[in-house]
Formats: sequence, structure tokens, C-alpha cells
Amino acid sequence: MNGRDLVRSMKAFGSVGAGQGLRTVRAAWRRRRADSSALPSRGAERARVPGTVREVEPAPGGGIVRFHRSELRILVAVNGAVFWGWDGASPEPSYALAGRCPEPDPRAVLEPDKDGGWRVVAERVTVAVSRHGAVEVRTPGGVTLRRDLPPRWWEPVEGGTARWMQRSEVAADARFFGLGGRASGPRLRAGTYRLWNTDPGHAFGPGDDPLAITMPVQLVVADAATHLAFHDTTWDGTVTLREGEEGAGSGHDLAGISELRMDGGPLRCWVIVGTPARVLLVWASLTGAPALPPAWALGHHHARWGFGSEQEVRRIVSGYQERGLPLDAVHLDIDHYDEHQVFTVDQERFPKLPLLAEELRQDGIRLVSIVDPAVKAAEGNAVYDGGTAQDAFVREASGRVVRGVVWPGETVFPDFTDARVRAWWAGLYEERLAQGFSGFWHDMNEPTSFTAFGESTLPRSARHALEGRGGDHREAHNVYALCMARAGYEGLRELAPERRPFVFSRSGWAGLQRYGGTWSGDVATGWPGLRASLSLVMGLGLCGVPYSGPDVGGFDGSPSPELYLRWFQLGSYLPLFRTHASLRAGRREPWEFGPEVLEHARVALLERRRLLPYFMTLAHLARRTGAPYVRPLWWSAPEDRALRDCEDAFLLGDALLVAPVLDPGADRRAVQLPRGRWYDTMTEQVYEGPGQALLDAPLSRIPVLARAGAVIPVRGGDGGLELEVWAPARGRTGGGLVVRDSGDGWDEPELERYVTRWAGQRVVVEHEAEDGTGEPAYPVRLRGAGRGRPTGCG
Ligand code: GLC
Repeated sequence: MNGRDLVRSMKAFGSVGAGQGLRTVRAAWRRRRADSSALPSRGAERARVPGTVREVEPAPGGGIVRFHRSELRILVAVNGAVFWGWDGASPEPSYALAGRCPEPDPRAVLEPDKDGGWRVVAERVTVAVSRHGAVEVRTPGGVTLRRDLPPRWWEPVEGGTARWMQRSEVAADARFFGLGGRASGPRLRAGTYRLWNTDPGHAFGPGDDPLAITMPVQLVVADAATHLAFHDTTWDGTVTLREGEEGAGSGHDLAGISELRMDGGPLRCWVIVGTPARVLLVWASLTGAPALPPAWALGHHHARWGFGSEQEVRRIVSGYQERGLPLDAVHLDIDHYDEHQVFTVDQERFPKLPLLAEELRQDGIRLVSIVDPAVKAAEGNAVYDGGTAQDAFVREASGRVVRGVVWPGETVFPDFTDARVRAWWAGLYEERLAQGFSGFWHDMNEPTSFTAFGESTLPRSARHALEGRGGDHREAHNVYALCMARAGYEGLRELAPERRPFVFSRSGWAGLQRYGGTWSGDVATGWPGLRASLSLVMGLGLCGVPYSGPDVGGFDGSPSPELYLRWFQLGSYLPLFRTHASLRAGRREPWEFGPEVLEHARVALLERRRLLPYFMTLAHLARRTGAPYVRPLWWSAPEDRALRDCEDAFLLGDALLVAPVLDPGADRRAVQLPRGRWYDTMTEQVYEGPGQALLDAPLSRIPVLARAGAVIPVRGGDGGLELEVWAPARGRTGGGLVVRDSGDGWDEPELERYVTRWAGQRVVVEHEAEDGTGEPAYPVRLRGAGRGRPTGCG
């Protein structure tokens, strides 16, 4: 939350002084003044298009096509990803790339195409460039997946940053996904989506855009193939999308349209073509493998803004323990800080935090700390003094340090785009580790600065190091949180090298997964918010950020018992499973909604704990392959159009299909099934896909189906690992992967492969090792074997 509402509510709750309102007015004026002197209006502009081809210059992986008024560099990389950049833009430097640009594919060659155009032919993709600079991405079979029309630039006559526009056409049947965390997805319908990380200023629902994590990454799924297009530009911009329409045999298909307009930055693009799994694999190889959460972070987290004291934390923890409810982490919000200042502790209300942390740890519960970037601008505040000595804070063009307003009052903002500042900030986590914290929750890092009017962030003219290149906030804004995540992650690696860091961040950009995950901010309590939660998790997963999950129950207000329970049930199948709410919101503990909800929440918590080995396996697979834990139903069948349009269910890994209840009063729901045999995990009822099944969804459960043949690692009654095996259909085989890891270290556990098949009247399960197959080392629980005849599928 932020803005005027927030200031009003903060005053009401006395969390900061009445001076806050006035401060936000002053901050807004300062912001306006800074921008008006440093960013004068653009004046007259001149439009430019590439013109016609003049010459070409082959180079490894492709080459350069020179037009009269621009040039285009094309490079096919060894991993199959295609890069192209206009006006001399090259892949580096880039905040998205995990390392250097991959090597060019020596087999890709630039050759003449028809009508005076050129093309680069590679193994998996052909990129054709027309005489006027349209760029087409084609499958090896010659089907066009994307056609970028010649771009257009607008350059200020007086000099300065060019704005540009890139219009692209995709197949009439294509669907758009991605663009970071969007509340109205996961399928992105016609509309304009902004690329500017934003705290919307109130708890959000499906109508709010943009939110805290935007990225110019779109995943386009069409009959012919799936492709990902990433415009590697951190500036402010918009993407306007319109799905196409098929001409129903008339031959007049209306193409789908994506129109990207950017306020500046290079016009450069990566495209990856293939199956969804391959696209995400290559994307992760470009932007970095997702960080592996420690095992405890895959359990249940409980947070609240306003626990207020150690006693209250103990009371909540006992509440879980006395009721036999699994709990793995407790999060402390800004109310445990001293006067809202990051890297401090209120010694009156939290006098023995390290002791509390140690006691909780004995019970298997970790403490997680919120970390806000803004630093209270007050001499005597150690973080402020330390940062000032380091010259760590963002400055205006005039040289004055930028002052904003956040929880502690007047604040300054570290420039995380400076390696030196990141190193300083990284060291501050030592204090947090000494307090006993095991995980870190980065917040308010869009960055947000409350304001009485205008945008709730830093002045656009504010100066940033941008890794030594120098630039302003227009370029740095969207990667501020990414760079903060990097600082935290790298600091923790150094300070506690034996443990995997656990960082999750409200804001971020392409590549955030290298450092951690997200919860994406304050989702509004209500049924639309519940739906938005799923949209965010799915969309982020398709952009390469696989670990996320919402504030279960919603951030504000008080959910009805039914809504709370449905949210809880959904959350228990998402990577980050966390209850959290605002200072003013109603309670979120599972026992606050009556005995019936408590019983059903207990079932969800126990099932989550039982599935932990499966979640851990999915985390390892995400790191090795880029595949998100939560996948759309079309993941393995993108050509199935009914699945492409299904937004209310998801695959959890390969084995499970989860169909949450997203509407009030529902006690059954239709579920769209991908091809193959599926078992209702509760009743073992068999359903045969593709098709639609109607499943019971009483308050006690949301429908979860298991794929026939699946081998799922679960935690047995004695805490040991077991294999839950769902019988393959007769004559069919199945299998699954297991990565055994219950820790938080860096050991590289082996990937175990299991296969299942029928042998006579028996289902056999075998461990496939390099030296042949053998008996699994774990107990096997066979399910669904007595069920032959499918029912209930339409
Ligand atoms: C922001 C965060 C929220 C947190 C609150 C107070 O609104 O999104 O999670 O509880 O700030 O720190």
C-alpha cells in the first residue's frame, strides 16, 4: 500500500507521526522540481524507420544487415536462442542475462532470402529479414510464428533518448502469457500492460495494472509452436495486446498483435522457439537457474504485519503447536524494527530475538525478516551514517541526495545498481543473521516512496551508477529490486556460505529467479483477489520465476471463512505457502474461522507436509530445467486449445493436477483434463482425458488429480521418504523423478528415476540407475490399481 490512503491509515493507527502527510507533500514537490530541471520536455521529434537494405556482413551465428537508417545485428546462440538488436544494440550489457552472452552457433548462416531480403537459418528456427526491416521468426518447417514490422523511432531533434515502437503479429490462434506478474491473467487478453514496477497504492485485484513485477517477457502459445520474446530494455513502456481471430475457413485470419512502445533504451530482443519446456529451459540458461530454496521454505509460513511483540509471536506459534498444525516459518514485519528502520530491532518489544529464534529453530520453525530498502535520513542512525560514508544513496542530478518518504519518515535510497553499494548493503545482513533470522523478505523495492501526488517512486531524473555506465531512474527503476535481491543473495552467500540463501522480493525483473522468488505484493481480500493470486503465480512461472505464492486470505480486510479456506487450500499447492495480512486486517490463523475451517485447514497443512519431498524435487527440477512447479494445463500439450484457454487449474509438476475452487458457494467444479488417465486422489475415481470432468469440491477439499503412472515422493508416517505410485493404465508405463533433499546446504543430490509398468496382474516400480534397474530403496504405496473403468468424463 502507499499514497494518500496509506498516509491517512498510518496516521489513524499512529504508526508514524502526523507529520507524515506533510512530508509526502514536500517529497512530491521535490520530485517534481528535480525532474523539471533535469528532464526538460523533449521538444520537437523526428520519426525514423530503418529504410531499405544496403548491405550485409556475415558474422558468427548470423551477421549484420545494414539499412539506410539503421542496422540490425542477428545472432543465433548455441542454446538455440535468437538475438537481434537494432541501431547497433548488442546483447551486453544486460541485467537479465545471468552471465556473458552465449556463444554464437557456428552453423547458423546469413543467406539471401526472396525479394531482396536476408535470412539466418538455424537448426530450430529461421529468422528472415525483409528489405524494409520486417523480421520474421519461422519454424524449420517454414511456419511464421512472429512477424515484427519495421520498428519506428522518435528522436528529439535537440538530441536525447529515442522513444520507439515495435509492432508484432502472431498467429490468429495464439495466446499471450507472461509480462511478469499480472493480476488479470494468466491468459493476457486485449489491453495495454505497463512495464513499470509499481506499488498500486492499495490492495490489488484483477483490474490493477501494473504491479510490483513487470517484465518485457511474453510467452506466445500457438498451434505451430510456442515462443518466448524478451525485449531486453529496462525502461518504462507499454505492451498493447490483442488476440487474433481465425477466419473460419474464409482464409482471412486476423493476426494477433503485440505493440511494444518504450520510452527509451535499446531495441533488442531475444526469441526462443520450441515446446514450453524447451523454451523455459533455454530461458533459464540465458537468465539464470532458479535459486534453490532451503527445504523449510517449502513448508508453511505464517506472517503478519503487527505481531507487535515476542509474546505474540510465541502465542501464535503455540497456537499452531497445540493444535498439531505444521508450521515451518514465522515472518516478522516492519513492526519489529526500531522506529521502522531496517536492520534494527525494537528492544522493548523484541528484547531477546536471538533467543526466540533459537527456541523456534529447536521446534523446526525459522524466522524470516522483512528488509526494506529505504533508510531513515537521520544522523545517528547507523545504516544512514554508514551509507553516507560510503556515498551509497541515490542523488538528484543537482547532486543532492534524493529524499523520499517511507515507513520511517524521511528516507534515502541505496543505489543498488552500483556494485560498491551492493557490497556495503550485503554486509548489513550480518546483523540479521546475528538476530537469528534464516530468511529475507524484500519489500517496498519498486522502489516505493509515498507521495501526496504523482508517482510513488523516485524522481525519474535521479542518478544511478548502472554498473559504471551512469544513467537515471528511467533506466534503473525496473531493475532496482533485482539489484537489491542480488545484494542480499550475494551477502548471504558470503556471510553464511554453508547455507542456501532464502530471499524473496516484492519487486523484480527478468532474472529475479537467480536470487529467489516473490509473493508479488498486497492482494485484495475477496474472490477476485483469489483468482488474481493464481494468475500471478502462473504468469511469473512462465517468465522464469518459479517460486512464488500469495498472501493467503488476502492482505486487507477479513475474508469469510469460506474464502479463507479456499485460499488456504490453493496456497497449500503453491511454492510459497504463506498466510499474511496487513496491520488493520482481520486475523489469519487457521483457528480463527471456526472449527470446521480449522479441520479442513489442518488437512491442507498435513497434505502439504506430506508432499514436501515432491515440492523439493520440483524445486530441484526448476533449478535444473527452468520448468516452474506450477504449470498451465497446456504445458505438455500446447496444441490443445481447450487447455490453452483454461485458467482455473494447473499442473503441479508432471504428476498432479490441482483444481482450486475460485468461486463462492461451489461444491463441485468442472476440470479440463489433458490427454491420458487421471485419478481423483481422494476417491481414486478414474477419468480419461482429454475432456472435461465434473468433480466434487466440498469444503473439505479442492480436487486434485494424479496422472496414471506417476511416481510421487512423499513423506511417510514415520517421516521417511515413500513413493506414492499411481497405477499406469493397462499396457502403459509411467514414472517419476525424485531428488532427495531435506536440508539447506549445497550438496548436489542425485536425480533418481523411477519407472512403473504392469507385469501380469502386478504393477512394478523400478529404480533406473546407470548400472541397470533395481528395487526402489523406499517403501512403495500403490494407488489406483483396482480401478479400471473410467467414468465421469465428458
Ligand atoms: C507492504 C508489503 C506488505 C507488508 C507491509 C508492511 O504493504 O507489501 O507485505 O506487510 O508493506 O511492511
